[in-house]
Amino acid sequence: MIIGILKEGDVERRVALLPDAVMTLTRLNITVKVETQAGEAAFASDEAYQSAGALIVLKPELLSTADLVVCVNPPDEATMAQLKENTVLLAVFNPFFNLDLVRKVAKAKITSFSLDMIPRTSRAQSMDILSSMATVSGYKAVLAAATALPKFFPMMMTAAGTIAPAKVLILGAGVAGLQAIATSRKLGAVVEVFDVRAAVKEEVTGLGAKFVEVEGALDDRSAGGYAVEQTEEFKKKQALAVHDHAVKSDVVICTAQIPGKKAPLLLHRETVEKMKPGSVIVDLAASTGGNCELTRDNTTINHNGVTIIGNSAFPVEMPADASKMFGKNTLNFLKLMITPQGELNLNWDDDLVKGTCLTHQGEVVHEKIKPLINL
Ligand code: NAI
Repeated sequence: MIIGILKEGDVERRVALLPDAVMTLTRLNITVKVETQAGEAAFASDEAYQSAGALIVLKPELLSTADLVVCVNPPDEATMAQLKENTVLLAVFNPFFNLDLVRKVAKAKITSFSLDMIPRTSRAQSMDILSSMATVSGYKAVLAAATALPKFFPMMMTAAGTIAPAKVLILGAGVAGLQAIATSRKLGAVVEVFDVRAAVKEEVTGLGAKFVEVEGALDDRSAGGYAVEQTEEFKKKQALAVHDHAVKSDVVICTAQIPGKKAPLLLHRETVEKMKPGSVIVDLAASTGGNCELTRDNTTINHNGVTIIGNSAFPVEMPADASKMFGKNTLNFLKLMITPQGELNLNWDDDLVKGTCLTHQGEVVHEKIKPLINL
């Protein structure tokens, strides 16, 4: 079998598999072809890939010979058109928000797996790229906030007087939120947290933060550990509570998401306008609309002295470790579809293989995406 690793587009600095992961594959007698300079932005040279047993090739050769292609972002249409029919393609398709792309991949008769759709079960934890990237984002969001804040994070007792610690408010305590709590606490901030899932209270307090409860949240256990959309009455109650805490905070880190939906709006314009000048908001939900009403995706703005950083792509800014985690998760997933002899074997009885597959033999097959495609 031939596995190909593509070089990503200009903005992306991650690479799907680093040389360490390649070595595991070549030991299985798999031929790994890496597009020239695919790993350069993640500090993995062509020489490092060659030492791991890979062949460095130009893109046309990779596309016309690979049985399976791995990348972080889906390739553009022109690239996709050069893939052989029935090529297996692994990438982060973000299919809920890219239905047109899913249709095109199906039409091209590519068997695609969306790495962000790996079911979130215990067995899949080692393959969960969403958790890995959220870990990077939560960490980086706090560092970005600390850099933009005109104050210290920790309490300081100096000869020049005592400085109070920064107050950080975190909206959403999923993987990114929990990492943001841990990072803020390590930097010495006082941290408060909102989430609609009562299950996270223990984790939040265990990390040394205060969990702010708003009564009446819908917490649907059948949603597989995810949050669900809230009632209008709850949203109003929560907005008031968030307002009271945000206006006393120096930093707000927004991480609240509902899978496949627009991000919940938690921080309204009126609240931002009452926040202290110099405060910082980092909105990790920017790409799905943002938790803050004023967020602009991929943009940093200043609104009445409050800095609002809209960034859902922090992993791009930490390409070495983000690629390491992404690659390890991807390799663990790949192992489900490779025999000990290094042959491709798509086992449709495996819930993780089936649950991650988007398109196969010209059809959209994912049970959550298929009904949306047919709409
Ligand atoms: P996410 O990125 O979908 O959401 C982030 C957080 O925002 C969640 O904690 C959610 O409850 C919260 N949120 C949503 N709406 C909100 C609102 N209106 N107000 C306040 N908070 C709101 O979540 P993420 O980080 O992807 O993970 C969520 C859960 O998924 C985990 O806690 C866990 O239960 C499960 N999970 C399971 C894994 C596995 O078993 N392989 C791996 C990772 C997560």
